[in-house]
Order: sequence, then structure tokens, then C-alpha cells
Amino acid sequence: MRSLLRTISRRDLLRQTAVAGLASAANFIPAVPAIAQKAKVKVGLLLPYSGTYAALGHNITDAMKLGLAEAGNKLGGRDFELVQLDSEADPAKAAANTNKLIVGEKVDFLSGPVHSGVAMAMAKIAREEGTLTIVSNAGANAVTREMCGANIFRTSFSNWQVCFPMGTEMARRGLKRVVSVTWNYAAGKEMIGAFREGFEKAGGSVVKEILIPFPNVEFQANLTEIAALKPDAVFAFFAGAGAVKFVKDYAESGVKAKIPLYGAGFLTDGTLPAQGAAAEGVFTTLHYADSLQLPANLRFRDAFKKATGRDADVYAVQGYDTAQLLIRAMEKVKGDTGATKELIRAMEEAKFDSPRGAWRYSKSHNPVQDVYLREVRNGDNAVVGVAEKEVSDPGTGCGMA
Ligand code: PHB
Repeated sequence: MRSLLRTISRRDLLRQTAVAGLASAANFIPAVPAIAQKAKVKVGLLLPYSGTYAALGHNITDAMKLGLAEAGNKLGGRDFELVQLDSEADPAKAAANTNKLIVGEKVDFLSGPVHSGVAMAMAKIAREEGTLTIVSNAGANAVTREMCGANIFRTSFSNWQVCFPMGTEMARRGLKRVVSVTWNYAAGKEMIGAFREGFEKAGGSVVKEILIPFPNVEFQANLTEIAALKPDAVFAFFAGAGAVKFVKDYAESGVKAKIPLYGAGFLTDGTLPAQGAAAEGVFTTLHYADSLQLPANLRFRDAFKKATGRDADVYAVQGYDTAQLLIRAMEKVKGDTGATKELIRAMEEAKFDSPRGAWRYSKSHNPVQDVYLREVRNGDNAVVGVAEKEVSDPGTGCGMA
């Protein structure tokens, strides 16, 4: 695929395939649209099934499957196929992997990824090709700002959206000097940047930003540095297996006893059983909390547990909502994947009760959502309050198809 793409552009390839398809259709198949309707709908999933984000990819996928099963395993009356590809959370492989799904598999819909660097490459190609795409985790701000496209939707969050409110909240708590620490890639940098924006606006100051190569988990030297800097608090973003390691090391090094730990909610989401007592008392902000007493959340958590034997987390919620959007849009067009404008409109206007709260899109196809303040208490991300209601990413819209 790669060497082929070096000499033949994606567009040429698509054009040639389409022409070959038409020629054979003219010879053998009189009613192309009817045949197209009968074929399985293909949904490509570019998600991490290995590495530090593997658990995130599995929960997104399994919750999508649950949502689709609850809808009778049909999309607009048609059978479908999920084409799963391991992204390995590797931006260097993201363009080739996206091409495998769009050009190779000719998927009707594309979804994923978890990693912001993978999302930038994926969204760029999806925008060029017009493939209807639902980003089910990655928070890269650009995806719903400057790279925004009529065919690009997000069911998760922007990196700015979940972290700006924590800046305001920490200043409100009287904290003045903070150190932030994260992995050195788009998501980490945008999250600590948004936190800093909120914190400094409210009078706080960030004394040091520590960046660690992704996905390294050797934190000892950084923890020694943090202890020496003696800030009022630390703000961190890590996720998946890396978050488990960071929170445990933070406690075991003795730093936690002196310097309270705050972070983006991913630091303690889906990770609490593995973090144990080390996570107690950690404060985070996120667009979801396990213990939200909403009927849709209680129902979803119960169904996910029955289907997988695991507890749902924010990633599962995002996968489930991705399925909800697909189901509603495909119902609207009665399975006609060619009705792009109608599909886009149906996704923009979809209304349903997400486990996180009422579903609503901004003009940039990013969800408008409450950001909760949570504290880990007795192994649960307990909701302390709403850090900020109806947070909308500053993206201003991407125009219609
Ligand atoms: C991201 O790279 O955008 C990302 C990854 C994992 C998370 C959140 C954001 O938990």
C-alpha cells in the first residue's frame, strides 16, 4: 500500500477504482444503487489495541458494539462490519493506517483514534477524502478548530475543554504556585496549556512545565525535581497504563504527602482499581464521572458491566455515544450512505441522553458539555461539583458541506 501510494496519489487510486467499478457494474449489474444498499456498511476503527492506551481502545470498541447490539445490530436497516485496525497510538503510522481504511477497505465511516497526534493525520486525510468521521477520543484542539471539516465530528472533548476549568478551580482554592507535568506531545501540551490559561487568568502562576517523552513511564527524576520546587500543587495529564504508573509513583515517592495532585480526569479514569490507595484524594476535571446519578448513566453502566464484565469509564461512554450518532444518522437516511449532506445534518441535530448528560453539538462538531470536578474517594471518582457548566470549545464552526 505504501509504495503504491508513493507513485499514485490517493485521489488517482480512488478514481481508478471507481471507474473499474462502474465498468463492471455496467456489464453485469443493472441496478448499482440497490446493490450498494445491500452491501454491508463498513465502519473503520483506528484505535490502540496494544501499548499504553490499549485499555482505552478496547473500552471504546466494546461500548460501540454494545450500543449497536442494543439497536438490533443494524445501521439504517443494513448489516454492518467493524473493520478494526491497531493504531498502536503511533502518529508515524497514522497516515498509512488511515489510507488502509479509506482507500484499501473503502469504509463508509471512520472512527477513532485515542492519540491526538494520530488524530491530526487521520482528520487531514478524512477531510480531503470526505469520509464521514467521528473522533471517539483524541482531544487535539485543531480537529474542531483550524482543521475542522463538515464531515468531521467528535464524541469526546477538546484538550482545552477539560483542562481550562481546572485552572479557574485551582485558583479558587487559593493555590498560587503550580508545577505541571505531562507527556511531550500535542494532547499533553494542549492540556497543560489550557490549564495554565485558566489558572493565570485567575491570578495563579505556573512555575515549571515538565515534559516527558511519550510513552515513557520513568518518573523518578521528575518527582525529585517537583519535590525540590515545592509548589502548592501539581497538575498532570497522563492516561491509561502511564497514568497508573504516575499516580502510584507520585504516592510511593512521598511527594503526595506534601504536595496535592490535580489533573485532567484521564489521570484517574478507568485506572482506579490498578492505582488503589495511591489515587485517594486526587482531584480532576472531566466531562464524565462514573457516579453521575443520571438514568442514562445507570442504565449504560449496568449494560456495559453485563456485556464485558468490566466497569465502564469515560472511554466507554465516548464509544457508546459514537454508536448513538451512527445509529441515528443512518436511521434518518434509511441506510443510504451516499446521502452525505443528510447524514451530516442528522449528526449535527442528534438529540439523546448520553451517560454524561444531554447531548448537544457546537457549530464546530464538538460536544457542549458540563465539566465535573471529581475527587477520588474510596476508589471512586466522586463528583464534588460542576467545575464549569456547558463548556464549549472556542472553535467557531467549520461551514457546511
Ligand atoms: C489524546 O492524545 O488526545 C488523549 C489520549 C488519552 C486520553 C486523552 C487524550 O486519555
